[in-house]
Amino acid sequence: MTGLILKAEGLDRSFGGIHAVKDVSLEVPQGALHAIIGPNGSGKTTLFNLITGHTKPGKGRVEFDGHDITGMPFAKVARRGLAKSYQITTVFPLLTVFENVRIAAQAASHANVFWRPADSIKAVTRRTDEVLEKIGLTADRDAIASNLSHGDQRRLDLAIALATEPRLLLLDEPTAGMSPSETASTVELVRELNREVTILMIEHKMDVILSIASAITVLHQGEKLFEGAPDEVKSHPKVQEVYLTGSL
Ligand SMILES: Nc1ncnc2c1ncn2[C@@H]1O[C@H](COP(=O)(O)OP(=O)(O)OP(=O)(O)O)[C@@H](O)[C@H]1O
Ligand SMILES: [Mg+2]
Repeated sequence: MTGLILKAEGLDRSFGGIHAVKDVSLEVPQGALHAIIGPNGSGKTTLFNLITGHTKPGKGRVEFDGHDITGMPFAKVARRGLAKSYQITTVFPLLTVFENVRIAAQAASHANVFWRPADSIKAVTRRTDEVLEKIGLTADRDAIASNLSHGDQRRLDLAIALATEPRLLLLDEPTAGMSPSETASTVELVRELNREVTILMIEHKMDVILSIASAITVLHQGEKLFEGAPDEVKSHPKVQEVYLTGSL
């Protein structure tokens, strides 16, 4: 056992003439809250897609929990316990909050072959209610998803990811488009979720990440610019330069 839930080595990917991710390696220990930051177009989402199997790497290798998952389709990777919540919301707009989360919990429960059908339904309902409680959506249980505020839709996205009982949760800008108060409560929520699941998250807002991350990888033009603890990242001259001149 290495204690690493995720190990990416030399990931590399170009799209035509654009070298989106250049030889990036990443190690995420169990229990970490690892953040990836970088300006627009620095390759953050592409790096996520290389990890999840949504995009095939030109070069490199990805190990999840000690198993090689390089180029494996996401559905298969998800069954091994990797979940993601993306910049683009994956909520079914016409279903209720409860139904959205139940579908995800149901999918995860298929893995448990020991349950009889009746017990399985009960377990899925229990899990769904538990997740809604944790995410703070119990009061909106019966609301139609499309009627939720933007912030609550993002929370629902998180609930859906969490319902699959992942061992690694990938979050792509969970606070995107949120008001300062919504951002603050989402940060609190992410910190809370990290007690039970390892998290790898992309975030644009530097202040958000400095307060919660255990380690930070800074990407710049597809390359790893720096990696370290929040304090080191904050005070690193190269990172400061990108911040002052760039658009983080
Ligand atoms: N499918 C694709 N086809 C062509 N180019 C792509 C594709 N996906 C990403 N790119 C390009 O790769 C580069 C990195 O994009 P990526 O979306 O990974 O950046 P990002 O750091 O997530 O940016 P943002 O902060 O805006 O979300 C960009 O120049 C982008 O235009
Ligand atoms: Mg992105």
